[in-house]
Amino acid sequence: MADLTTKYLGLTLKNPIIIGSSGLTDSVEMIKKIEESGAAAVVLKSIFEEEILLEADITLDAAVKDGFTAEAFDYYDYKIKNDNLSKYISLIKEVKAAVSIPVIASINCTSSHEWPYFAKKITEAGPDALELNIFSLPTKLNKTASENEKVYYDIVEKLKKNISIPISLKISYYSSNLGAQILKLSESGISGLVLFNRSFSPDFDIDNFTVTTSNVLSKVDELSISLRWVAIMSGRVKCDIAASTGVHDAEGLIKQILAGADTVQIVSVLYEKGVGYVRTMLEELQKWMEKHDFKNLDDFRGKMSQSKSDDPALYERVQFMKYFRGK
Ligand SMILES: Cc1cc2nc3c(=O)[nH]c(=O)nc-3n(C[C@H](O)[C@H](O)[C@H](O)COP(=O)(O)O)c2cc1C
Repeated sequence: MADLTTKYLGLTLKNPIIIGSSGLTDSVEMIKKIEESGAAAVVLKSIFEEEILLEADITLDAAVKDGFTAEAFDYYDYKIKNDNLSKYISLIKEVKAAVSIPVIASINCTSSHEWPYFAKKITEAGPDALELNIFSLPTKLNKTASENEKVYYDIVEKLKKNISIPISLKISYYSSNLGAQILKLSESGISGLVLFNRSFSPDFDIDNFTVTTSNVLSKVDELSISLRWVAIMSGRVKCDIAASTGVHDAEGLIKQILAGADTVQIVSVLYEKGVGYVRTMLEELQKWMEKHDFKNLDDFRGKMSQSKSDDPALYERVQFMKYFRGK
């Protein structure tokens, strides 16, 4: 049997498959099943800054209308945030007590104001690491790219001062300067980067003229964006890389390790095939490694990264040019 162990965020994982943050990772029962399936680690469903602030805004608006005093206002603000936080802290504690695989807590933040306090409380509950899911669509027409990017560095800087467990950043590929941004983030003191998050996208119902939800789950062909960037950035960044989005089978998993990923996160495929599919992916990875006589992941990790390629331009090619003319 080939050795599938890998290192990620300073943790030794028994294999490279991590179950990404999702509805699959918000209960102790599901996470026990995930552990039984052979997955090496789990990222808990995120606690969302936006959701908490929205709930606080709605309650506080009502409180203001009812003529609440400033002290009562502060009390409610504090209580709403802490109630949400308490639920999340209980989940972390229960999951940590129920499983032995590493548990990564996840915060979705859009600003740097509240999170140092929240993150400190969350880390006291004992997760093995913290994944920060930072992203807001760059739709503010008066903001510059560097103002948008500054949010990432501000959050990391504040959190680094407040917590001591490893931090990873789950980012989007929406950036005007993606390669340089990934490199700079990797040097900001974080332990890992998750490339990439996948955002919720709207769709239109053309008979009812309403905005609807589309493509909640990824498709297998979405692998190509993260595959390209993992291949370009691995061997260059100063932190670990977890590949994410579009890994639906052992082939996708193997491709991402060939590109240089330390670990791979999966979600959509498990909604489609059930969490037991992790076992199948691990068996197929084993078979493929035996076929190619690879004894461990480092024997082929990064073998197809851009920095090891004889033709690095292939990874940067973006135009189809002569594709349909036989080339
Ligand atoms: C139903 C659902 C809920 C999700 N919730 C979260 C979340 O709370 N936090 C987060 O960072 N990502 C969340 N994600 C995104 C996934 O973690 C992952 O990044 C995305 O699905 C791409 O990976 P995949 O192609 O393997 O599905 C969610 C995805 C799905 C399908």
